[in-house]
Amino acid sequence: MTARQTLPRLLDLPVAPTTDPAWILVEEGFTLAREHEVESLFAIGNGYAGSRASLAEGCALSAPATCVAGVFVSAAGSVPELARLADWTHLSVTVEGHALQLDQNSYVEHRRILDLRQAMLWRGWRQRSAGGRITRLRELRLASLADRHLLLQSMTLTAEDYSGSVSIDATPMGPLTQLTDAGITVIMAVRTRLTGPEGGAVGTAALPIEQLNFDINRGETYRLDRVVAVYTSRDTREPLRTARRRVERAVENIEDVVVQHRDAWLARWEASDLRIDGDPAAQRALRFAAYHLSSAANPDDDRVSIGARGLSGTAYKGHVFWDTDIFMLPFFNLTYPEAARALVMYRYHTLAGARAKAARLGHSGALYAWESTDSGEEVTPPFVVGPDGEVVRILTGEQEQHISADVAFAVWKYWEATGDERFLIDAGAEILIETARFWESRAKREGDGRCHIRGVVGPDEYHETVDDNAYTNAMAQWNLEVAELTARLFAERWPAQWRALSRRLGLASGEPQRWQRVARDLYTGFDERTGLFEQFQGYFGLEEIDLAAYAQRTAPMDVLLGRERIQRSKIIKQPDVVMLVFLLWERLSPQVRRVNFEYYEPRCGHGSSLSPAIHALVAARLGNTALAEHYFRQAAEIDLADNMGNAAGGIHAAGMGGLWQAAVFGFAGLRLTEKAPEHCAKLPPSWHSFCARFQWRGQWHELTLPEG
Ligand code: BGC
Repeated sequence: MTARQTLPRLLDLPVAPTTDPAWILVEEGFTLAREHEVESLFAIGNGYAGSRASLAEGCALSAPATCVAGVFVSAAGSVPELARLADWTHLSVTVEGHALQLDQNSYVEHRRILDLRQAMLWRGWRQRSAGGRITRLRELRLASLADRHLLLQSMTLTAEDYSGSVSIDATPMGPLTQLTDAGITVIMAVRTRLTGPEGGAVGTAALPIEQLNFDINRGETYRLDRVVAVYTSRDTREPLRTARRRVERAVENIEDVVVQHRDAWLARWEASDLRIDGDPAAQRALRFAAYHLSSAANPDDDRVSIGARGLSGTAYKGHVFWDTDIFMLPFFNLTYPEAARALVMYRYHTLAGARAKAARLGHSGALYAWESTDSGEEVTPPFVVGPDGEVVRILTGEQEQHISADVAFAVWKYWEATGDERFLIDAGAEILIETARFWESRAKREGDGRCHIRGVVGPDEYHETVDDNAYTNAMAQWNLEVAELTARLFAERWPAQWRALSRRLGLASGEPQRWQRVARDLYTGFDERTGLFEQFQGYFGLEEIDLAAYAQRTAPMDVLLGRERIQRSKIIKQPDVVMLVFLLWERLSPQVRRVNFEYYEPRCGHGSSLSPAIHALVAARLGNTALAEHYFRQAAEIDLADNMGNAAGGIHAAGMGGLWQAAVFGFAGLRLTEKAPEHCAKLPPSWHSFCARFQWRGQWHELTLPEG
């Protein structure tokens, strides 16, 4: 049977929503106050474009946003942010002169479904309008995974119990052509088609202003399809012509657009679905995470990366952080290596920005931007205005330098997972070398004979301008060692390429040996006697505050205690030493892993969405399954229960990558060793079975637990 034969009648929407509760998110009714959150959670995207799930007709709180990855604008005096395109989803329906408007008291039925399996957003709405007439609307939206330039909205409208005049205003809100200050032209070409109850086209509107009027009889259904093609001058020299041509073709083949999109997603799920029996909440949360991660990635464009909130919201302005390299990338390495390659290549293309930043601060090599956009320049805002009007300096852009080691780590992990030699030769090695050069120049040998890195911010952003942050130094040490290893590997395996690269980068003959010496002498704050890392120099002397006394808090600890006090305390925002325990696991003894987790876990305030999943992962590996489950649930609920109160600004993509890692590397205990994948599972008692497929060095593996 071909896909076409499975389609329902033309006047119905092209496919039906998935009904299996493990594959859907349902928002029943309408609660105005939740609207921003729903817009984020139910967002659609394909890594090229993303669109929030705003109500088509709008409501008092609607904040629609459609963005294209890598297209930023900067208002005078502020840092770049993702450009907002026209709201192509805008549709308002008027029945006998009365506009249908959703409000808490007047609808008959209202339900939205995020269909994770088919990556479609569904809406069913029955609304009573003046005179008691009931209109039924069903809507479908998607951002095509089969052709990333296409967005589709289909809506059916049925007059349940009346005959009368209907008009639909389908005018996209905002300009369809934009020119950014960086000189990028963004074009949306729109085609709208209305099909009458007999199945014939009633009208096709090609103009930006789209007003469709018709008379409907009781029980009749009309269907409106709107296709949008998005192109930018980054994609083609003729974005307008290309977009128009694309949309013309698509509007004639809506069914194909839908089916090809669905099939592309089914293939994605084949490669990335995790199955858990016995814990439906965990199952759904992991699918929700994989849905949003896959929706944010684009293997076809390696000049863009994934922002902290993907394309589902404008918090953090679409900026790229270590979130992508450390939290999301492992998901892509193992389930979508083509997308992973694009993400690491983005770091290669932004090396110039990283070199410029290092030079600006007086160092050699490459210091990546803490917050990055398309150019790789540092775009962290230099200050924010606090709730009480005070201006607060943001130091992360200058001081959160561990990002360079995180990027190097990502490069190495991608290479290990895929064995992609071309990447290592053409791009990866250069990143490893340039980041190592940065650390060599950044670390200063002092009177004690050790190398120190002073004045940084570690992952724990509650403490600024600290000396010898354990995470930064241990990761820098790793970076230096791996760069030296790469030099040896290269010289041995690819001597001609090595000579060319060394020449191009002006590598001195003894340079790799110098990296090794700096690595050997780097101070990491590790105490042989206790097995503890001191998070930074002086941390152990800070004020002890019992977090248990704040267990019922509804605000983050830095807000409750204030900036000054939190800096003087041991309370940390997110895993810092625990983060290094996770990333450098194989280098540490079981005893060291345990004592550090036990020391730092009770001192963590989880002021970042990146925090709970890493605690879940490490607790699971240490065998503390109950604690791991507690953190896993907390991580799963960051967006699904909005437990940090900020899902309105977009979903937390790093939290999702962390959740996936907690399941795979934590509970299932997957370890990707030099030789082969191994595992040592400690599943929660309710997980009767666990099954994951993943790719490792070009081969598919299946991990099914319990075994046998
Ligand atoms: C966290 C960072 C993170 C950023 C973006 C901050 O609150 O502390 O680690 O990179 O959010 O998600």
